[in-house]
Amino acid sequence: MADSGKSMEQLTADLRQRREHLQQGGGADRLAKQREQGKLTARERIAALVDSGSFEEFGLFATHRQTQFGMAGREVPADGVVTGAASLDGRLIHLASQDFTVLGGSAGEVHSLKVADVMQRALKCGSPFVFINDSGGARVQEGIDSLSGYGQVFFANVELSGAVPQVALICGPCAGGAAYSPALTDFVIQTRKAQMFITGPQVIKQVTGEQITAEELGGADAHMAHSGVIHFVADDDLEALYICRRLLSFLPSNNLEEAPRLDYQGDVEPNPELSRIVPVDPKQGYDVRQVIAGIVDRGDFLEVQAGYAMNMVVGFARILGRTIGIIANQPAVLSGAIDINAATKAARFIRFCNAFNIPLVTFVDVPGYLPGVQQEYGGIIRNGAKLLFAYSAATVPKIQVILRKSYGGAHVAMCSRDLGADCAFAWPTAEVAVMGAEGAVEIVFRKEMDAAADKGAKRAELIEQYRSTFASPYVAAGRRLVDDIIEPANTRRHLAQALEYLQNKRDQRPPKKHGLIPL
Ligand code: HXC
Repeated sequence: MADSGKSMEQLTADLRQRREHLQQGGGADRLAKQREQGKLTARERIAALVDSGSFEEFGLFATHRQTQFGMAGREVPADGVVTGAASLDGRLIHLASQDFTVLGGSAGEVHSLKVADVMQRALKCGSPFVFINDSGGARVQEGIDSLSGYGQVFFANVELSGAVPQVALICGPCAGGAAYSPALTDFVIQTRKAQMFITGPQVIKQVTGEQITAEELGGADAHMAHSGVIHFVADDDLEALYICRRLLSFLPSNNLEEAPRLDYQGDVEPNPELSRIVPVDPKQGYDVRQVIAGIVDRGDFLEVQAGYAMNMVVGFARILGRTIGIIANQPAVLSGAIDINAATKAARFIRFCNAFNIPLVTFVDVPGYLPGVQQEYGGIIRNGAKLLFAYSAATVPKIQVILRKSYGGAHVAMCSRDLGADCAFAWPTAEVAVMGAEGAVEIVFRKEMDAAADKGAKRAELIEQYRSTFASPYVAAGRRLVDDIIEPANTRRHLAQALEYLQNKRDQRPPKKHGLIPL
């Protein structure tokens, strides 16, 4: 008999009862309300994400210590956040899932300390961390204690950064300073039922007079199209959890591991369709995602930030089961020109891949950096430099495939040999040049054209002369800017071979605290 005078059976029954009660979160009514809104509960989300029966919870019995504002003795199950470890496709993850049915998922001191604690466990064990957000923000009753808790979560986000992958799911409200934890993670997945902003529509109206709905301001589509804060849009919780699982399948568990290599070996048979996708005329557009699909395993490409800076395509795929990070100009949007958003989107993706040992494959078809006053005032120099910095600093295997035009500074920026590409391939359609032939003749041959009787014919002749002199892959290959000129149909085979021989690449850089990317 224990000191309480109860038998082991009674103590065990008592434990079960307490556990079941706390697992009910805010109670049946609030759970029902959550489901009525088309949202899963905090625990249902975990169950839908991880391998069945694998979840091990930490801190179910943790509770707040606030005594004011009606909180004395108030039960706050799990302090509004379910935390623990589980396996996902057989691999360890740590996670936190905010429970909106408990005080609106608000983050009190203990709530945030639980989150920061499970993050430290993820770091120690080398597992990804997944944070499912659904919260009214700082728990108002706990005042500055809740602020401090947030601070500890932010600090932990930064400690984990680059050591283990961090994924944030936004499945409900995520307002004010609370939005900065997702912002510090690697990937943010938002459902169309959720909103995220620093200041809401009412405050904005008071301060600036601007009128906007919460959906227009902080909905998933707004963040994808305008702010670039999120990486994936999901219709609902189940889709968000599916995207999270799929994303993690491409990634290693931590920075000391390689990404898992799938058993799928497939073949590297030529794909003649590739030559038909890309028009020889550099002025004609096409969808570079069709090229990617024609090269990677099963055509399976997980595009990241698909609705943001669509002139640059980034995402994960595999070649012979190996994860690769793909960066590609998109000629179908802005002719593939690089603007501020495209440069920062690609630079961030490159740095993620480099931190987690994922080889980079870059498909180039770029007319240059985008001209314009807004681009210059917006800092295309500073932001475009991020792309140069990210590629140059990356030490993972770097492979460049020049599909068609590759002009000027943008040629250098798109993982050129000069920025450390280990292997540069060019298709026969490739044109590496300081600028397009049309622009070049206007600068170099203006007098000759003015003097000619038939200006149009002279111009066409000079364009052809300039293009055949510089704008061919053979000139670039002659200067060793490209290693080989390959048949489009054989691209997959060449990439598979390059990834094989680069797998043990070592690239040492001078010791320093960190480089200074132009933020
Ligand atoms: C305490 C909160 C809360 C909060 C919601 N609740 N937010 N309790 N602190 N921050 C409680 C409600 O009182 C309510 O309790 C329950 O959660 C459900 O909330 P509802 O309002 O009924 O839900 P809904 O209508 O769906 O509205 C959700 C909401 C709204 C839009 C999130 O609750 C809201 O605006 N909350 C306040 C948001 C906010 O201003 N947070 C502080 C931000 S400052 P009962 O018992 O009635 O069910 C911040 C600073 C962080 O976060 C700084 C970090 C550096």
